[in-house]
Amino acid sequence: MEDHIRFDARERTLFLLDQRLLPEQEHYVACRSVEDVIRAMQGMVVRGAPAIGVTAAWGCVLALDAVDGPDWQELLGQKLSLLAKARPTAVNLRWAVERMQRCLQRTLDSAGLEREAVLPAWEAEAWRIQREDVEICQAIGRHGGELLQDGDTVLTHCNAGALATAGYGTALGVVRGAVAAGKRIAVIADETRPLFQGARLTAWELQRDGIPVTVACDNACALLMGKGLVQCVVTGADRIAANGDTANKIGTCAVAILARHFGIPFYVAAPLSTIDTDMVDGSAIPLEQRPEQEVTHVGTARICPVGVPAYNFAFDVTPAAYIQGIVTEVGVLRPPYTESIRRAFDRG
Ligand code: MRU
Repeated sequence: MEDHIRFDARERTLFLLDQRLLPEQEHYVACRSVEDVIRAMQGMVVRGAPAIGVTAAWGCVLALDAVDGPDWQELLGQKLSLLAKARPTAVNLRWAVERMQRCLQRTLDSAGLEREAVLPAWEAEAWRIQREDVEICQAIGRHGGELLQDGDTVLTHCNAGALATAGYGTALGVVRGAVAAGKRIAVIADETRPLFQGARLTAWELQRDGIPVTVACDNACALLMGKGLVQCVVTGADRIAANGDTANKIGTCAVAILARHFGIPFYVAAPLSTIDTDMVDGSAIPLEQRPEQEVTHVGTARICPVGVPAYNFAFDVTPAAYIQGIVTEVGVLRPPYTESIRRAFDRG
């Protein structure tokens, strides 16, 4: 699945498959401005770190469409700084906006201060970011697929699949890579409270691909591991610090600790663009807090008494010590991550 983020150049519109409505409805939201794109990200129409990055690149294109006059660069800068802050944890968002800004600077340097000269170059860069993301996920799949054995059941948390990227997925890319290599792999998808990305999205896309998938509630994890039903855990990431500490969907850290207890390998799969080398360790990773209503309600139905507050941290940080390997497009990075991450960037 690669058409869930689709830019129509003639209509100057970005169409996003509305992930809030899956699996019941396949409906596209039309974004005609960068403000629409920001609303779509914050409202979870589109989510998943690499998918947010790709969407942000198209948000930049729509922002440029909307600015004109002598102050166009200043106006554009203001729109891009709001876009870069739409969601705080997934570093791919900032990465994509910065890459588009570097492209802008290159084009301006070569073409003079012409807004019209920038537009085609910007559109081409957004296409490149989208295309490259699929290729990167496929490379993650090839490297990570080798870690799985024929007959393995992989537990995953949240959705790090095609829907969370431009296509193919990171954690689910690893599963797809192993399946493509002829291995029989089954998946357990944690339902992933409070927004159920595992039950709604991971199960939906694996079922479409014919990969066996079973959904379990988040608090079944220890029981399933204890019963020997899980051979490997693979999750995605929203931001990885230079020492390997990894922010991912709330609940990931508990899964990693349980995996260690039961002697099950725990891998993170992510592109190098998810690694924030400016962040020494995970303690400074900003963790998004979302509306309480996502916890106090399921859909529109209230599930706890009026007036009781709720925590709704969207992400947590898994210490690097619990991570067996980080599967990237350049190979599987192993501890000590400060070394292996530095080498991966030197190579890249
Ligand atoms: O809040 P979400 O749904 O954007 O959170 C997504 C995750 O935590 C994913 O695991 C992560 O972005 C990796 S996606 C390849």
